Amino acid sequence: MAAVFRVRCPYENGGKPVHQRAGFLRCAVRAALIFCAEHHVLIHLENIHKTYTSPGRVSHALAGVTLHIGAGEIYGIIGRSGAGKSTLIRMLNLLEQPTSGKVWVDGRDITTLSPGRLRQFRQSVGMVFQHFNLLTSRTVLDNVRFPLRLAGMSARQQRERAAEVLELVGLSEHMNKYPRQLSGGQQQRVGIARALANHPKLLLCDEATSALDPETTQSILRLLQDINTRLDLTIVLITHSMDVIRTVCDKVAVIDAGKIVEHGDVLDVFLHPHHAVTQSLLSESGMDADGWEEMAEGVQGSLVRLSFRGQSTLEPLLSRVSRDLQLDLSILQGSVGRIKQTPYGQLVLAVQGTPEAKGQLGSMVESHGVQCEVLRS
Ligand SMILES: Nc1ncnc2c1ncn2[C@@H]1O[C@H](COP(=O)(O)OP(=O)(O)OP(=O)(O)O)[C@@H](O)[C@H]1O
Ligand SMILES: [Mg+2]
Repeated sequence: MAAVFRVRCPYENGGKPVHQRAGFLRCAVRAALIFCAEHHVLIHLENIHKTYTSPGRVSHALAGVTLHIGAGEIYGIIGRSGAGKSTLIRMLNLLEQPTSGKVWVDGRDITTLSPGRLRQFRQSVGMVFQHFNLLTSRTVLDNVRFPLRLAGMSARQQRERAAEVLELVGLSEHMNKYPRQLSGGQQQRVGIARALANHPKLLLCDEATSALDPETTQSILRLLQDINTRLDLTIVLITHSMDVIRTVCDKVAVIDAGKIVEHGDVLDVFLHPHHAVTQSLLSESGMDADGWEEMAEGVQGSLVRLSFRGQSTLEPLLSRVSRDLQLDLSILQGSVGRIKQTPYGQLVLAVQGTPEAKGQLGSMVESHGVQCEVLRS
């Protein structure tokens, strides 16, 4: 779901300043309403600040965060340790109150809810934690029944609903076990079942896979993707790992020192990362945007970077370009993979041939939907 949200600046009116501030505000509100109606923004964080004060120390955990999350999206938030990720996700159900700013969820500013309404609202938000947070002295079934009991459901309804969500996460046969009798992946499934029990419209996952091995991580990510589609559930997912973002997320925001430094569609951010933190997180997961620079020293010819997305990734484009334009191509750096279901790739090539042929390379690949960026002519 690509969305462009841009309100015309009041000083942008053909170079002439617009002095009617009220008119501009009306336009901005209208644009915001159209945007929300077209794209159904479920969450809108507006200039959130969170400051922790302890003797001799003030910590700005969030320093002006504004973010939109669409209904039905899997939205990833990534950043280094201490960047403010947990503080941010805890704003979405007000486990943390912002020092200033507004938190809109489904059209309501939840910072203004009375304690009773806030308790009610929280029942529509599920949360999954890194260390599962299960009640160790209760069975799997009783762990999942717990939030239903708090919501005032009858014992029979609690059992029925708990059995239903345990089936959804593939744990029906383990419902009478205790958490210590389950593997880490199974315990996290209990955590997910418990979070889903109250039919939430929003699921918050704070490092839900960080304590798990790679294979179990993949199975939990598949489960999250499955419930996102089957239940039309919006998921906000905190992680340190770009691989987690690549596997399940539609959108991503990168947070650093309490600020969102980059955000957008996962494909765009992976293919064209702008901020140094994004670039270094990508390079740690094997996508080093500048890795070609050292390789290129002493290599003859022009240098181009080709970015593929979707079907073009699978086409034999390089051999066609080489054959038709009589160009010699060598690969200095490359990665090919999938973001959710979409194939993507990026190659840095050294190109040798006549200036005319090199000049035609860009338009030839772009006619196949591949973006061409000249790094050295
Ligand atoms: N209750 C608190 N009191 C004081 N400072 C806090 C509190 N909670 C968080 N902080 C500070 O706010 C900053 C952001 O913390 P947060 O837990 O949001 O980071 P994070 O990105 O989730 O880190 P990690 O990846 O290690 O979980 C840190 O500097 C942290 O020390
Ligand atoms: Mg955290």
